[in-house]
Amino acid sequence: MHDIIQQLDEKRRLARLGGGQKRIDSQHSKGKLTARERIYLLLDPGSFEEWDMFVEHRCTSFGMENQKTPGDGVVTGYGTVNGRLIFVFSQDFTVFGGSLSESHAAKISKIMDRAIEVGAPVIGLNDSGGARIQEGVDSLAGYADVFMRNVMASGVVPQISVIMGPCAGGAVYSPAMTDFIFMVEDTSYMFVTGPEVVKTVTHEEVTAEELGGALTHAAKSGVADRAFRNDVEALLMLRRLIDFLPPNNREKPPLRPTSDPADRIDHSLDTLIPDNPNQPYDMKELIHKVIDEGDFFEIQPEYARNIIVGFARMEGASVGIVANQPMVLAGCLDIDSARKAARFVRFCDAFNIPIVTFVDVPGFMPGTKQEYGGIIKHGAKLLYAFTEATVPKITLITRKAYGGAYVVMSSKHLRGDVNLAWPSAEIAVMGPKGAVEIIFRQDMGDPDKIAARTEEYRQKFANPFIAGHRGFIDDVIMPHHTRKRICRSLAMLRNKDIKNPWRKHGNIPL
Ligand code: HXC
Repeated sequence: MHDIIQQLDEKRRLARLGGGQKRIDSQHSKGKLTARERIYLLLDPGSFEEWDMFVEHRCTSFGMENQKTPGDGVVTGYGTVNGRLIFVFSQDFTVFGGSLSESHAAKISKIMDRAIEVGAPVIGLNDSGGARIQEGVDSLAGYADVFMRNVMASGVVPQISVIMGPCAGGAVYSPAMTDFIFMVEDTSYMFVTGPEVVKTVTHEEVTAEELGGALTHAAKSGVADRAFRNDVEALLMLRRLIDFLPPNNREKPPLRPTSDPADRIDHSLDTLIPDNPNQPYDMKELIHKVIDEGDFFEIQPEYARNIIVGFARMEGASVGIVANQPMVLAGCLDIDSARKAARFVRFCDAFNIPIVTFVDVPGFMPGTKQEYGGIIKHGAKLLYAFTEATVPKITLITRKAYGGAYVVMSSKHLRGDVNLAWPSAEIAVMGPKGAVEIIFRQDMGDPDKIAARTEEYRQKFANPFIAGHRGFIDDVIMPHHTRKRICRSLAMLRNKDIKNPWRKHGNIPL
């Protein structure tokens, strides 16, 4: 018996070495951690249960029958993050460059199947040269098996991808179908075709970093949700994100006890809105002052910065925050911001996370760039997402809420549950200047008349009370009471239960 146990120990030791010490050293020299080191950082100490450590590939082409490494380039299993179950796979670049074989894919598929069955998140730590070239179509079939499970798991359990090395070709589509993508600066990239192919086909010269590095995807394409400086930071921030999420679509997000009083008053909010309606202010200040302990986990902070989305807690319970940012493009809605917010709203709705919306929006961005880019369909995504959402929806209008953008931003008309406004709110078809230029065009030559008309319009419409008379706004509140009013509204809505009509699925304007 003693011998068998020793043999097992030796087998385990070899499996843990992956592609060998030389390749591990090479991984470290690039500033990257190994697959196992990443898992140990992500999970609670001692919680990892590994599966399929002894799985090997079955390829016999190109001398592969003599090149087998236990585990076949991916470490899989389950463990806990702050005591809560998650499933994880971590690709091992030291084994055939982390490339995906039939067996490698089967290991990933196995943990995904269990995760869906038991209702726990799937975390993928990606570091792979893509399809295992020696395996041909078997490898492509393996990818397809994973893609299929990504789709089946979508909206059932949270799926998060961290890109910690190369991710190219069709391989990018598995992360693309997960809920969130984190990338690591300087060591990770994602693209459908690499710089060489780009040069041949389009004659563009571009580096891998420019084409598909972390900053490119976090700021330009919006493919990545966050970029971090190194593996350690990415994994620690991943633990933070997981803390906000429920394990599956049947459960509520976890409660975290807080010492921040629900009725905390913040008088500085009474002076947040500048006297000049065209002067911007930082909406993040409002978010930080209203949520528990100022703890905000922003999603896509560098992309479409005219809208802010992210997770926070109110009275210990997770909420999704959606807020216009007057500091960027005056807070206008455009293609990118509508897509960004719509996807976030749909995630929150799928996973029972109430949505708190802060509105200061002068309208949709005008211009040919937007129209040719399809703002009509993209803007409609946000309209659709807010409308179909059945989670508790609280909306606060701080200043401008004009035109179609007023309706889109979780208005009462789209089943907003509690719609509040500050006294500085202006709810109208458009701003006073634009309105007067249209309806009093005949007076345009007379500046005094125009000034008088503008003031008349401002008095009449640039306030929250007409919407209040109609019941479209439930109350006009003191800014310093914002946290208390939102916390009470969320508490009142805790057992909200509404259902949309049965259908196979809706047809969101993609
Ligand atoms: C088998 C691979 C491999 C692959 C890398 N390796 N990619 N083995 N299949 N796809 C092996 C290398 O032979 C090498 O083995 C080890 O991994 C490390 O690779 P290096 O090239 O030495 O590392 P590096 O210089 O860091 O370059 C990494 C790389 C490069 C940029 C990923 O290896 C590369 O370009 N690989 C091919 C990428 C590719 O074209 N994949 C197919 C994409 S299409 P040794 O033994 O020397 O350590 C795709 C389709 C998916 O994935 C479709 C889904 C439907």
